[in-house]
Amino acid sequence: MNPTLKEIRNLKQQFSLTQKEAQQYHKIIQHRLNKEISSVEKLNLFKGKLILECGTGQGRFTQTLVKNLLRPDQVLYTIDSTPRMIKNIGSKIRRKNFHPLVADLWKIPFPDNHFDALISHYTLHGLRSKSKDFLKPFKEMIGVLKPGAPLIAMTFYYDKGENPSAYLYHRLIQLSYQDKGISFFGLKSPEIYKNFLRKAGLKKIKSKVINFDSFPFPEKLRDKIHAARLKEEKNLIKKIKSSKLKKEAEKILSSFEGKPELKNQKVGPTLLLWGRK
Ligand SMILES: C[S@@+](CC[C@H](N)C(=O)[O-])C[C@H]1O[C@@H](n2cnc3c(N)ncnc32)[C@H](O)[C@@H]1O
Repeated sequence: MNPTLKEIRNLKQQFSLTQKEAQQYHKIIQHRLNKEISSVEKLNLFKGKLILECGTGQGRFTQTLVKNLLRPDQVLYTIDSTPRMIKNIGSKIRRKNFHPLVADLWKIPFPDNHFDALISHYTLHGLRSKSKDFLKPFKEMIGVLKPGAPLIAMTFYYDKGENPSAYLYHRLIQLSYQDKGISFFGLKSPEIYKNFLRKAGLKKIKSKVINFDSFPFPEKLRDKIHAARLKEEKNLIKKIKSSKLKKEAEKILSSFEGKPELKNQKVGPTLLLWGRK
């Protein structure tokens, strides 16, 4: 899928990239998304007529899904609590069988036993709430599935320090939300994810680590991405008001800063989870 001019402009800004580097970055990310879609395809669960996607975000996964996997006789609803994301995807995908909708995972606006499948990409780890009741969105997602229908989720996860840069970034985000009195789900182990899904009513749960590659970015591009990320992390810390939380965040960052494994780690990995209601 070719990037829009706006996507390239945003990447150039976000990571201080040249036009060529931004295009290179987009190509690598798209390649990873294509691999993830083909992992979903191999599960042979993306079937049935009515499908719900949870957490549209910028919509690159949604676009890849619609292009590569959605059949014309299937209907895809995608929900996100941020209106901007829904407006954005609505302008990018105009198809009769595609319906973007602003909605909160804590209260999914569909009846129980409604969908034939549910899919979610890189959304679960980013859930945040004042209530701390993180079982609720899992119950909602499983509730709207028909009995026996599959849930397929891909997410960041944390296990044995395999993805230290993702861990560092999400830990700092977690502290900055804590500073505002909001709980952030954050990176969990595969077992914690499975427990949430099981408690929420999913059965036959399986998981697989996918897309665990050597860092695919050329060195110069990789260094620019790391520098931009570090700047963003320092800004996050600067905004923390509580001195106790700020100290904790600074300690975490300094324990990682300059470590070669942050730069040289394999990218991803993505945790693919699936099961049936
Ligand atoms: C990292 S983005 C998703 C990325 C996208 N699926 C992709 O793979 O490119 C996570 C999205 O989840 C949405 N989100 C977070 N909490 C939510 C909630 N409670 N209900 C609905 N959407 C939520 C955010 O607005 C954000 O757009």
